[in-house]
Amino acid sequence: MRISTLAVTEVDAIAKLADECGFQIDPTQELQRGFAHLWVARVTDDASTPDAFLLAWRAADEFDIIALGTSAAARRKGLARSLIAEMLRSAHKLGLRRVLLEARASNWAAINLYQMHGFVVGRTREAYYSNPTEDGVEMSLELDCPKLEAPAPLAAQCSEACR
Ligand SMILES: CC(C)(COP(=O)(O)OP(=O)(O)OC[C@H]1O[C@@H](n2cnc3c(N)ncnc32)[C@H](O)[C@@H]1OP(=O)(O)O)[C@@H](O)C(=O)NCCC(=O)NCCS
Repeated sequence: MRISTLAVTEVDAIAKLADECGFQIDPTQELQRGFAHLWVARVTDDASTPDAFLLAWRAADEFDIIALGTSAAARRKGLARSLIAEMLRSAHKLGLRRVLLEARASNWAAINLYQMHGFVVGRTREAYYSNPTEDGVEMSLELDCPKLEAPAPLAAQCSEACR
């Protein structure tokens, strides 16, 4: 597996992958935004195109996860988990305090995935999503917790990230 930041040559592949995963994002525009961070993951080191991506926007001392997607063929291989770990390493390096996101209330795959990393479910935002209309759940992870009060998976990541 290989994780890297988005390269200019990968924007078309990521636009296609994002579309496949149900996101309307323009990777070219994201590359030009100083506050956007976009990582890509490949199942194998030598794969020509990325299999997964994570887009986060930085606002002050927070990362807001805008999109996270893995191609259907590459799911359940740990790519999203590795991308989240990489994003958390970056958040620690930048001294950020929290990570936020919204997920569709029915998206148990995503909710499970984030809970594994210590994210907690917060407010429900009624009819936050369209096509189809659905509630959104807010999730957040406080990063100033560190190791002592963090649940085990997060504690492991905190210590890894802080090394
Ligand atoms: C959600 C998504 C990003 C997960 O990507 P992935 O690369 O398959 O995830 P990983 O292999 O890293 O999974 C890590 C853990 O997340 C949880 N998880 C992932 N997919 C799951 C599923 N379909 N059902 C339940 N739990 C799931 C599991 O706990 C999994 O660990 P395990 O495989 O050891 O059981 C992927 O299914 C996807 O792209 N979905 C469409 C887009 C989307 O919903 N994005 C999230 C928006 S907030």
